[in-house]
Formats: sequence, structure tokens, C-alpha cells
Amino acid sequence: FRILCVVGARPNFMKMAPIMAAFAQLKPQVEALLVHTGQHYDVAMNQQYFDALGIPSPDINLEVGSGSHAQQTAEVMKRFEPAMDEVQPAAVLVVGDVNSTIACALVAAKKGVPVIHVEAGLRSFDRAMPEEINRLLTDQLSDLLFTTEESGAENLAKEGIGGERVHFVGNVMIDTLRANLARAVPAARIAADAGRPDFKAGKGEYAVLTLHRPSNVDDKAVLQGLLETVANISASTPVLFPVHPRTRATIEKFGLSHLLDRPEVLLLPPMGYLEMLGLMKDARVVLTDSGGIQEETTALGTPCITLRNNTERPITVDEGTNTIAGNDPAHIMAAYKAQLAGAGKAGRIPHFWDGRAAERIAAIVLDWLKARS
Ligand code: UD1
Repeated sequence: FRILCVVGARPNFMKMAPIMAAFAQLKPQVEALLVHTGQHYDVAMNQQYFDALGIPSPDINLEVGSGSHAQQTAEVMKRFEPAMDEVQPAAVLVVGDVNSTIACALVAAKKGVPVIHVEAGLRSFDRAMPEEINRLLTDQLSDLLFTTEESGAENLAKEGIGGERVHFVGNVMIDTLRANLARAVPAARIAADAGRPDFKAGKGEYAVLTLHRPSNVDDKAVLQGLLETVANISASTPVLFPVHPRTRATIEKFGLSHLLDRPEVLLLPPMGYLEMLGLMKDARVVLTDSGGIQEETTALGTPCITLRNNTERPITVDEGTNTIAGNDPAHIMAAYKAQLAGAGKAGRIPHFWDGRAAERIAAIVLDWLKARS
């Protein structure tokens, strides 16, 4: 069986790595081919991850690049269709919730080729978030759905997607985390490489910040409030901040660079996977608007303050180390102070986040393809 596996943007790469490895174990019954849409194209956003995680080079590169949501989604669709015609896959497998995910799922579904969605059923119930639209539609188009937490199947059932199509298998991103934890790059080394060997980056000494959601970085007042809060926090905990290209651009555009111009804040380029893992592992606290980092910090037992009003990953709050703080400075400071006072959440590792999710997925996919043929 030939399966076309799709990646496009940074958060897809660490999810696909263990899936490709698990399919490789099933050769020659399964032949997995990798398509990279090129949604993310900078070395820092992309090649670093392939190298660090040993992801095979893509069999097909679509090189779509940036654009508005409509342009980007349309361009992926236009370029993915001929790739499908050439490969004639038995199924198309997509991960996560980026524009490449929905674009390729839609092309496959219209061609009558079954769609497999890994990380199905997550819902923030916030349709202002582009990823929520991608999640809802991808799940509607999917024939086989794999969930990371119990809320996934509940959400899908409410949308009329249930029964044998849905499988709770755990979290492929945590497969990758566990496989690579021993290779994580220490934060002190990252700071030294950035020219700051003096920066306090030992275990429990520093905070990590990531920001890239349009709702946080595309509005000047919101971004300013967030950066002022970070500056406040840095007075008691030095902050390491790998800056996403979108965020770097808006900080400059709004003239806010001065807010972070202090010795306790270290701006970094987008990090590779092993660097990001090292930063998260030893942090006192991580502040983020990412989805994946909420899960990675839960798996690592590192406290996380989420700079959004909601999460599509409620298990990180119910069982993990995550606190939802939104983007209001007072709320963020309150969450941070609770953390410092030791009132932070201890958390436990959610069920099936055991490093074997991809193995489960590959076995179920093979059985399913056999039953259909
Ligand atoms: C995308 C995903 C988001 C994910 C994030 C992780 C969607 C809808 N969003 O958002 O879910 O959390 O990736 O990073 O798919 N840019 C570069 N170099 C690159 C890629 C992008 O400079 O390699 C610039 C683009 O020009 C653009 C900005 O970064 O201005 C945003 O890129 P884009 O791919 O549109 O979305 P992300 O915000 O990265």
C-alpha cells in the first residue's frame, strides 16, 4: 500500500518523524512517501528539523512558500493534485492543523482517496483561530482519525464523526520528545552561542517565551502589553525568547524593540528541535501561545503559562502543567507569581503519551487498508 504523508510547517515535522519510522518497519507491505508543501521554507523553520530528527528527505517538494491563507491553501491544492495523480496513493495521511493539512485533505477527499488525520478532534471552540477552521474541516473530510487525548473523540462524536473510524492512540509529538530528550541542547550552551555566556540559564533559573499567534502579535496594543509583561517578568527571571519571523516583523513594524532591550532578555533566532527541547526541559516556566508547546511542557513536567484565552488541548490543563492566562498582563503576572510561590501545577503524564503512538497508528492503518482492499 502506498501512503502519501504530508508535512508543511514546523509543528508538522516532529509529528511526522515517528510515523515515517513506524511505516518503514512495515515495508514492503506499506510504502510511505513524504510530501513537503514548503509552507515553511527557511532553514531555521524547516531543514534544521529534518536533520535533527532524521526525517527522510521529501520524495516530493511543492515549494509553495508564504501568502495569504487563501493563496497558500490554494497553491498547496494546485500543486498537490498532480503529485497525487503521479503517485496514485491508497491513502493520504495529514497531521495537525496547518494550512497544508486542510489543503491536502481536501484534494484527496475530492479525488475519492481516503484521508487519515493524526491529531484529530482537538477543538478550541474559537473560530477566529485559523487552525480551528483547519481542524474542523479536516476531520469532516477524514476516513480514519487518530486522537491524542480523550476530549478528541467526544468532540468528534458531537460533530457526527464516531465509531470505528476514531482511534485514541496517544501523541506522536511526545514519541519524538521521548526519543530525543537525551540529545537536548542545554540552555546555557544556546545562550553562550548567542554571545551571552554570562546569561543565567541553568536548570530552573530562566523563563522561555514563544509568541506567534496573529491574535497576539498582529495587534499593537496586545503585543505591547505582552512585551511589557515579559520585561516585568525578566526582572525576577531572565527570559530566553526565540523569535518567530512573523513576530520579529511586527515588533519592528510597531516600533516595540526597545521594550526587550535589556540584559535579562535574550532574543534568539527560531530554534532547532533539540535546542527548543533543551530550553523547555530546564526552564522555571514557559510562556507560550503555541499549541504543541503546551503538550511538550506537560510531558516534561515544566510549568507552562499559555498566552491565549482557550486551549484545544484541555488535558494539559486537567492533568498537565498548563495554566491558561490569556493575553491580559494582570492575568499573566498572577499566573507567574503563583508559579514562583510554588503554587504551580505539578501535573502528570496523560494516558498513552508513552512514546509508542506512531507504532499504534501504523498497525491500525495497515489493518484498515487490508480490510478495505
Ligand atoms: C503556521 C501555522 C501555525 C503554526 C506555525 C508554527 C497555519 C494556519 N498556521 O503559522 O498553526 O503554529 O506555523 O510556526 O498553517 N515565514 C518565514 N519563513 C518561513 C515561514 C514563514 O519568514 O519559513 C514568514 C512568512 O513570510 C509569514 C510569517 O512568517 O510572514 C507567517 O508564516 P505562515 O506560514 O503564514 O504562518 P505561521 O504564522 O508560521
